[in-house]
Amino acid sequence: MEQQIGRNLALELVRVTEAAALTAGRWMGRGQKEAADQAAVDAMRMVLNTIPMDGVVVIGEGAKDKAPMLFEGEHLGCADEPKTDIAVDPIDGTRLLSQGMANSISTVAVAERGSMFESPYVAYMDKIAVGPEAADAVDINASVETNLKNVARALNRDVRDLTVVMLDRPRHEELAQQVREAGARIRFIMDGDVAGAVMAATPGTGIDILMGIGGAPEAVVAACAIRCIGGEMQCKLWPRNEEEWASVHAHGVDVSRVLTAADLVHGDDVFFAATGITDGELLKGVHYFGDGATTQSVVMRSRFGTTRRVDTVHRPSKLDAYGVPFD
Ligand code: FBP
Repeated sequence: MEQQIGRNLALELVRVTEAAALTAGRWMGRGQKEAADQAAVDAMRMVLNTIPMDGVVVIGEGAKDKAPMLFEGEHLGCADEPKTDIAVDPIDGTRLLSQGMANSISTVAVAERGSMFESPYVAYMDKIAVGPEAADAVDINASVETNLKNVARALNRDVRDLTVVMLDRPRHEELAQQVREAGARIRFIMDGDVAGAVMAATPGTGIDILMGIGGAPEAVVAACAIRCIGGEMQCKLWPRNEEEWASVHAHGVDVSRVLTAADLVHGDDVFFAATGITDGELLKGVHYFGDGATTQSVVMRSRFGTTRRVDTVHRPSKLDAYGVPFD
């Protein structure tokens, strides 16, 4: 990686998420989650294979709901160096996309080989995420009230001025109640807690903190973004059933361990890219017009803490040149 110090891989990764978004975007509102996922996965694989690196997929996603996926252990890229780990979420919010709803995004992250947390045997994690100003104010082991008070203090606000984003799930009933009792507002999302975490970490989005249980692969992907933005994320494995509990016991996995963003991805140079598929609060979605389409993306690198927003106009003929199906 040393020789590659000047290279911002995220600027290349954005072509991966753009391609996935462009192909998946065609499936908006068509009620076919798997077809959308397959389109995104195929486009992602194709473009990842054009990037000069030797990447291995560590977070392939899809296992929880048996969706099409990039397989863990799969090698992607077209060079021997740099050796990297790859985390993908070709569509975060597959249901949002298939039902024509806001906030589905395509994401990919890359870091040095061996730096990403490989989530063992457990599909979900309990999560808390905030932006840079509140990075030292959260503790996943503390009560909801304490966390909200500390975050409010760090942001120089009242608790009632905070907005918590959480997945709208029955498992969050008690959490939601505790947030209400503490006095903060709640923004429920139907899906997409990677975007939720990125919004929580990004100042000015109107979202101050992500709380609740979501996918473990999504936690690693979100942690990559948070390493770049400079906030904090803390997670704990959350076994969902007896089978997962049996696995964690059999393998001696410590579910009480707090995993920080730096535990989830501990490399020095983390790259993250995301492209909107449907219009959302974080990113605009794909807009198709007569002979092309526009996408909006975000591109981040942890080493220099850069975040770039990339608005792209795509022409079908150019896309054909690198094999991304446009129709
Ligand atoms: P997919 O789009 O990959 O299905 O994930 C959507 C999502 O909402 C994630 O953002 C989140 O981490 C996870 O699903 C939550 O899982 P569940 O829907 O089982 O509660």
